[in-house]
Amino acid sequence: MRIGLIGAGRIGAVHARSLAGDPRVHRVDVVDADAERGRQVAAAVGGHVADGLDALLDSAPDAVVIAAPTHTHAELVVQCAGRGVPVLCEKPVFADLDTARRVAAQVRETGTLVQVGFQRRYDPGYRRGFEAVRSGALGQLRRMHMVTADPEPPPAAYVAVSGGIHRDCQIHDFDVLRWISGREVVEVYATGANRGAGYIGAAGDADEAVAVLTLDDGTLATMQASRYNGAGYDVRMELAGSGATLAVGLDTRVPLRSLEPNAPALAESAWSGFMDRFAPAYRAEVTAFLDLVVAAAGAGVAPEGHCTVDDALQALLIAEAAAVSRRERRPVSLAELGSGAVLAGTAAG
Ligand SMILES: NC(=O)c1ccc[n+]([C@@H]2O[C@H](COP(=O)([O-])OP(=O)(O)OC[C@H]3O[C@@H](n4cnc5c(N)ncnc54)[C@H](O)[C@@H]3O)[C@@H](O)[C@H]2O)c1
Repeated sequence: MRIGLIGAGRIGAVHARSLAGDPRVHRVDVVDADAERGRQVAAAVGGHVADGLDALLDSAPDAVVIAAPTHTHAELVVQCAGRGVPVLCEKPVFADLDTARRVAAQVRETGTLVQVGFQRRYDPGYRRGFEAVRSGALGQLRRMHMVTADPEPPPAAYVAVSGGIHRDCQIHDFDVLRWISGREVVEVYATGANRGAGYIGAAGDADEAVAVLTLDDGTLATMQASRYNGAGYDVRMELAGSGATLAVGLDTRVPLRSLEPNAPALAESAWSGFMDRFAPAYRAEVTAFLDLVVAAAGAGVAPEGHCTVDDALQALLIAEAAAVSRRERRPVSLAELGSGAVLAGTAAG
């Protein structure tokens, strides 16, 4: 397969390595707005530099990976889907709801495969959580708790176009909340704080956020997000059911120390960031995407459970509700925001 890569920054370089390392990929063509950056990443993986976006798309690649900044995603997805080119697009796909609804409808019409880059769906712990809910091992799911905490904030330029902490950071939790529970969120109550760099507040964003969410079957979820977790990169989830309580991310590298004298010693250093914590999941996500591309071309079996554009729209609705709730200091029902996707994704029922 010949795969195009649009955007070769932090995550684009990770995807470039995964693509080049897959035996089914014989060529990776890189496009980056910063030509030197594109050359460096292409050279590092034995790839090629495409002569701009149009040239890349005109060359009819077998698939495209979009890892450019968030505000470019929607139109890039439309361009690729319109040409029938399968896409793996980094999260979040959309910056706002109107765009999300329009783009999701356009993608649906084309029938083109679009996978959204929520790599937690390929992390072993989160997958076991998914299976525990479905197998009955958990009993009735009653409560969920989720944490996403970065050790330090992204730079000002990233924050300015990121969509803010709910759409950029908590969106991962909003996606796995739906995927794992198999339910929809009906209400969000969120708040936030600015206690760090001035550029975050100046962008209308928060550097600490908490949310309480109610699911359509009455399951309750709490969430915390931070851009200032000094102990390290902390991504965890707890699932509390009538039959068991399970934790994702509670491993030897979790940046969390018990104060109890009989606590087990955790020897290893804490996770430093998403590259470190989710390296295997990013690789697995790209492998699953290539499996889907092969299956869409009529060969092989399509893996289940990828995040569709409709799933991404639904996750954005939750993020929008959180943003409104934080701004207006009140619980916000998703119904207030109008309908989201026609649910063909994983959380139906
Ligand atoms: N799934 C995850 O865990 C994860 C982690 C990090 C980033 N992301 C997402 O990936 C995207 C990129 O984030 P990043 O941290 O790699 O950003 P980055 O700023 O490091 O990289 C973006 C790259 O895109 C290039 N670029 C800008 N406009 C472009 C365009 N129109 N066409 C082609 N290239 C363009 C820039 O020159 C830069 O090299 C964001 O949407 C972010 O939300 C996801």
